[in-house]
Amino acid sequence: MFNREEDNRMYFGNLINGKWENDSNEKRIEIKSPVDDRSVGFIQAMSKEEVDKVIDIAVDAQIKWREMPTNQKSRILHNVADLLEERIEEIAEVLMVEIAKDKKSSMSEVKRTADFIRFTADTAENIKGESLPGDSFPGFKNDKISIVTREPLGVVLAISPFNYPVNLAASKIAPALMAGNTVVFKPATQGSISGLYLAKAFDEAGVPSGVLNTITGRGSEIGDYVVTHPKIDFVNFTGSSEVGKRISKITEMKPLLMELGGKDAAIVLEDADLDLAAKNIVSGAFSYSGQRCTAVKRVLVLESIADELVSKVKKEMEALTVGNPLKEQCTIVPLIDKKSADFVEGLIDEAKEKGGTLLLGGNRTGNLIYPTLFDNITTDMRLAWEEPFGPVLPIIRIKDVEEGIKIANESEYGLQSSVFTKDINKAFYVANKLQVGTVQVNNKTERGPDHFPFLGVKSSGMGTQGIRYSIESMSRPKVTVINLEM
Ligand code: NAP
Ligand code: G3P
Repeated sequence: MFNREEDNRMYFGNLINGKWENDSNEKRIEIKSPVDDRSVGFIQAMSKEEVDKVIDIAVDAQIKWREMPTNQKSRILHNVADLLEERIEEIAEVLMVEIAKDKKSSMSEVKRTADFIRFTADTAENIKGESLPGDSFPGFKNDKISIVTREPLGVVLAISPFNYPVNLAASKIAPALMAGNTVVFKPATQGSISGLYLAKAFDEAGVPSGVLNTITGRGSEIGDYVVTHPKIDFVNFTGSSEVGKRISKITEMKPLLMELGGKDAAIVLEDADLDLAAKNIVSGAFSYSGQRCTAVKRVLVLESIADELVSKVKKEMEALTVGNPLKEQCTIVPLIDKKSADFVEGLIDEAKEKGGTLLLGGNRTGNLIYPTLFDNITTDMRLAWEEPFGPVLPIIRIKDVEEGIKIANESEYGLQSSVFTKDINKAFYVANKLQVGTVQVNNKTERGPDHFPFLGVKSSGMGTQGIRYSIESMSRPKVTVINLEM
């Protein structure tokens, strides 16, 4: 059974070999809502022995799954997408309660996931191999042809973060499956129940037994064990840079794909459209309370236009809706837990102490941090460098564009940056110098559309996601050379 109710409590199982098992282990974790502490349900804290069993099942299932024709795999994935769309309200409700995401964003996460899965299935159907003639290399005759096809890697471990429990899980699972791998999916503990609803759609859409399996439990307890498991062939991880670095240290010779933290800068030049910049900066910084890897996390603005930009940003921020996502549509929602809110508060307090000019917010009710704007943040303050994952926006004034590029690049992170200017030459000049995966010209930093390559450099990640890129990352070339007698 996917879930069962007992004494007014909801218990969720794990998808193991095509069955929902939820009686195998007495050790459970209660998931409570960040909004009002209500119980969302209990998940299993799986033991290492149970993890071993799941991984063995995924290894066995891969033998048949890799042989299934791509068009059949694709049909199953289309069924998954259809089911997600049918269940959009139900899954969005779970997201709202479990991770305090507002209704509009929750609905859009599910819809975007359905679109992602369909596009992945169609892309995989159209991936062609190649053949290379030997004689294009000096010294070779035309007696050799290399036929290059793609092979799955085996068992992919998909580990997702709390902030997009459906989308960032599916963006690993769907390309991994289309490439012929089986998947062991470990959701973030807060976000597990939403992730299990996603797995349920895969199961009911016809994914064969053992091809997708779930494991739940705290990363701090089973994480090291599962990432270093010898039968896991590939780890596809999204989460903090701290955990990502730990994984890359302890997994020897295991291929990894990592989407990690960011400190995305919006650089605003003198000739920018300041209304456009202010709108984008605020929506980029504050949606889902800033709990997005690609949120705008600092503004680097030329001194000459800083007063005007700051006043426009402040005005936009004053219109942000703050509240309870279970009662009303709002942008600013309670942060995921007390630890996160304490961390953000620490950054705010330090910026105040060191002389940052607090223009808005700075206050807190429980885990709800009000939208906070600081001007005159300087590079000796933590807020200039650390990722708050909360609704706090620092403005750093710069004397010229070179200083902006320098501060942007001094970050340990390198996910995305924005540059606001009407001059395409200046935009390219800045974009070429920024050490990030993506530069957005005249837009907020953001991931989509999901077939674009998405990557972070430095502490922001390893490898490239994006539909075709993800399929390629989770498969390898296989080369067969035909040697002709001539
Ligand atoms: P997190 O604390 O690093 O957790 C991410 C995942 O790792 C969770 O499933 C967690 O499980 C698991 N985990 C924890 N310790 C582990 C270990 N030792 N081994 C293996 N797995 C382990 O991150 P988060 O708080 O959920 O997400 C926020 C962070 O993710 C931010 O830094 C954000 O920038 C980043 N992020 C990046 C992207 C991107 O695309 N670049 C996208 C979204 C989020 P538990 O929940 O059980 O601890
Ligand atoms: O932080 C999650 C990442 O995937 C961002 O997506 O669309 O919010 O930029 P988006």
